[in-house]
Amino acid sequence: MAQTSGWALLTVVAVSSFASGALSKKDCSDTLLKIRNGHYTLSKGFEAGSLLAYHCEPGYYPPVKSRRCMSTGSWRPKPERGLACKKVRCPDPSGFEQGSVSPFQGRYYVNDTTTYECFSDYKLYGSSTRVCKANGKWSGSTPICSRNTDHCPDPGIPAGARRTGHIFNIGDKVTYRCEDKLILIGSEERTCKEGGEWTGHEPECHFDYTFDTPEEVAEVFGSSLQNNLKTAEQNEDLNQQEGKMIRMAKGGNLNIYIAIDASDSIEEEQFKMSIEVTKNLIDKISYYEVTPNYDIVIFATNVTTIVDIHQSFSEHQKSLADIMNDLDNFNFVDKGNDAGTNIGAVLVRIYERMSLMKTRNATKFRDTSHVIIMFTDGEANMGPDPKRPVKQIKEFVYGNKKEERIDKLDIYMFGVGLEVDKHVLKEYVTDNAGQHVFVMEDMEKLHETFEAMIDESTSVGLCGLHRDYTYDDREKESSIKLKHPWLATISVRHESGNPSSCVGSLVTPRFILTAAHCFKFGDTSNSITVTLDDGESKVRRVEKYIPHPNYNTTLKKKNGIPEFYDFDVALIQLKKDVRISNKARPICIPCTKEASGALRLSDPNVKCKDHEKLLLNKEYEDAHMLSPKREMKHVKIKLGASRDACIEDAKKAKGITAENAKEIVTENFLCTGGIAPVTDDVACKGDSGGALFTENHRRTVQVGVVSWGVEDICLGETRKNSREHTRDYHINLFKVQPFLRKYLGNATAGYAPLTFLD
Ligand SMILES: *[C@@H]1O[C@H](CO)[C@@H](O)[C@H](O)[C@H]1NC(C)=O
Ligand SMILES: *[C@@H]1O[C@H](CO)[C@@H](O)[C@H](O)[C@H]1NC(C)=O
Ligand SMILES: *[C@@H]1O[C@H](CO)[C@@H](O)[C@H](O)[C@H]1NC(C)=O
Ligand SMILES: *[C@@H]1O[C@H](CO)[C@@H](O)[C@H](O)[C@H]1NC(C)=O
Ligand SMILES: *[C@@H]1O[C@H](CO)[C@@H](O)[C@H](O)[C@H]1NC(C)=O
Repeated sequence: MAQTSGWALLTVVAVSSFASGALSKKDCSDTLLKIRNGHYTLSKGFEAGSLLAYHCEPGYYPPVKSRRCMSTGSWRPKPERGLACKKVRCPDPSGFEQGSVSPFQGRYYVNDTTTYECFSDYKLYGSSTRVCKANGKWSGSTPICSRNTDHCPDPGIPAGARRTGHIFNIGDKVTYRCEDKLILIGSEERTCKEGGEWTGHEPECHFDYTFDTPEEVAEVFGSSLQNNLKTAEQNEDLNQQEGKMIRMAKGGNLNIYIAIDASDSIEEEQFKMSIEVTKNLIDKISYYEVTPNYDIVIFATNVTTIVDIHQSFSEHQKSLADIMNDLDNFNFVDKGNDAGTNIGAVLVRIYERMSLMKTRNATKFRDTSHVIIMFTDGEANMGPDPKRPVKQIKEFVYGNKKEERIDKLDIYMFGVGLEVDKHVLKEYVTDNAGQHVFVMEDMEKLHETFEAMIDESTSVGLCGLHRDYTYDDREKESSIKLKHPWLATISVRHESGNPSSCVGSLVTPRFILTAAHCFKFGDTSNSITVTLDDGESKVRRVEKYIPHPNYNTTLKKKNGIPEFYDFDVALIQLKKDVRISNKARPICIPCTKEASGALRLSDPNVKCKDHEKLLLNKEYEDAHMLSPKREMKHVKIKLGASRDACIEDAKKAKGITAENAKEIVTENFLCTGGIAPVTDDVACKGDSGGALFTENHRRTVQVGVVSWGVEDICLGETRKNSREHTRDYHINLFKVQPFLRKYLGNATAGYAPLTFLD
């Protein structure tokens, strides 16, 4: 490519403000570092290279955000006397036209309330009352007084802004600037389009300290991304005649480029979290019926490739699972003070990838949408000026049809942390509908954003999906609940008077899967209590329970097996559907189309045995069980040769005199427990009927139902290490498919069915 040599010329020498190498590094002192009404944290103590960050209470901001300890032993910027947290201000709303703002003040601070009224003849659009929020933004939306006589609606004047242009007919332009030192985020210029909408999106005026909250970003970025994913879906439909299968197999026509900053200003913890954030994002996207091609890089001074988009078009295409593993396995190397933030190099690389793609197949390139998402601390301090490759990428994708092709490219910048320069980031993004620059306080907030993006509206049909609040310690209590939204507790009052308690799993909004031995002959639906901990009316009324027709504990009584547990599964049909939410959601059942989604098997020809191959294939498969208290238990399912040893221990169970272990534990069981290759957890009494499940990137698939064990060593405890022969046996869901299919797959029974595979 001709461009490559051109880029080399652009490369500027690294702006390495941190001398390094042979010079001995001095520590910095703590003189004059304090901030009144706030505190500071240090990334590496008082060592050279350490980053000092100032923190204030919500609603306040530090006038100096951070300092860096230089190798000369002094802080930059230099400490000063009298540093204090200041109260957050919101931009001046008095640019409001054809109406009045009250109260009228010189300055507006956090918690100040303003109200808006229009002159007679004008109608108010937007919020009539707004409160200054702790992040430096007004609540609600820009108030506009308009008579709406023109082709486009009045686009308003955001707080802190001035607008030129007051006629809004086709082709008319309005331009914005922000007052004082406020930074304009969004479209500086908007044009009234034929369809009665404006190009771009409403700008905002930000103070240096204004930031976006996770809720704001989740809403804006989430819906913007969703549009992309939907567009891609539609294109896919339009091209269905061309053969959807081929398209699916080779990936759709959406390319997503993700770049993660690992420069020296990013600490290891932060970096790890940005990997989580990326996985979360990919996961979120995988809920849609699109198969984007990914290009994922980690950058500092140099760009390291995790996933090369060109692999998507070759034989070596990586599965999403591989991509997730590669992200997990990326080793963060502390680069000392030598690592810069080479945003330019990342964009140059993306541009090169695009050029190559177009060379290979211009037709395909024309139909491809590109989404570039970059996470950075915001200081491009070395390499080519990012503005140039951004310009080139835009020209390359738009060609000479910018209007028509503007939605084919989205560049999003997530500035994270203290050193973000919004002035700079906004130069790199695209100016199509929706906000494209986001400034978050820290990685944790960004993580919350992507968690919040998993909303019910887009993910109702998704089995086994759960939130992962590993980083959200504040909510630990509820996080456990969110993690296993399918867990049901079951209690049965038997005629004999002795109640029994089991657990089960929600498998569709109408059914709970559990063990048949939880019930006794004569139990009625009224004697069964099902509880789901989703904060709604807790107890669910039961229509009936359906044990597997082949379940018969006395079948082999005469053969030295006093209690025989083959086919120990049952379904509980509820009277009403459970409302699906983040707190109550079904687990995935293997050999269903729903589980294919969770396992990322997008090929429409996937068969039941493909699921089995993926889930129960290795000699030891990692799996989990839950106690009724939602404690996670870790086990390895023994398969192949180790299964034989595992079931052999069944003969050690009390009362059993049968000689052949295979008579006691049929092919229908999975086996866990024991101390090799590692010590498993064992099932305890109350765990019966619960799910034996595997976790694949935050999606849970049930493979077994906890049935019985060689002995109960828990003695009242709910979690216990296994002993050598303390094995547990679980009904293998692959072996009871006809039963599951009959009830859960019945499309004419009046409740939502699962779609079973052949
Ligand atoms: C703003 O109001 C909230 C709620 O009343 C209060 O908790 C907070 O301290 C106030 N913030 C400031 C900076 O006064
Ligand atoms: C970046 O790449 C160059 C050339 O491959 C290499 O010499 C240099 O050490 C790398 N820098 C870092 C910080 O990894
Ligand atoms: C280019 O891609 C299109 C689909 O987008 C395909 O129909 C065509 O065969 C491809 N051409 C080549 C030369 O691979
Ligand atoms: C269970 O098996 C025993 C022994 O074969 C048989 O007598 C009994 O009728 C069976 N029970 C049911 C409910 O099928
Ligand atoms: C499905 O449910 C309907 C209504 O309950 C029933 O009539 C039908 O036999 C069921 N189909 C199967 C295959 O069980």
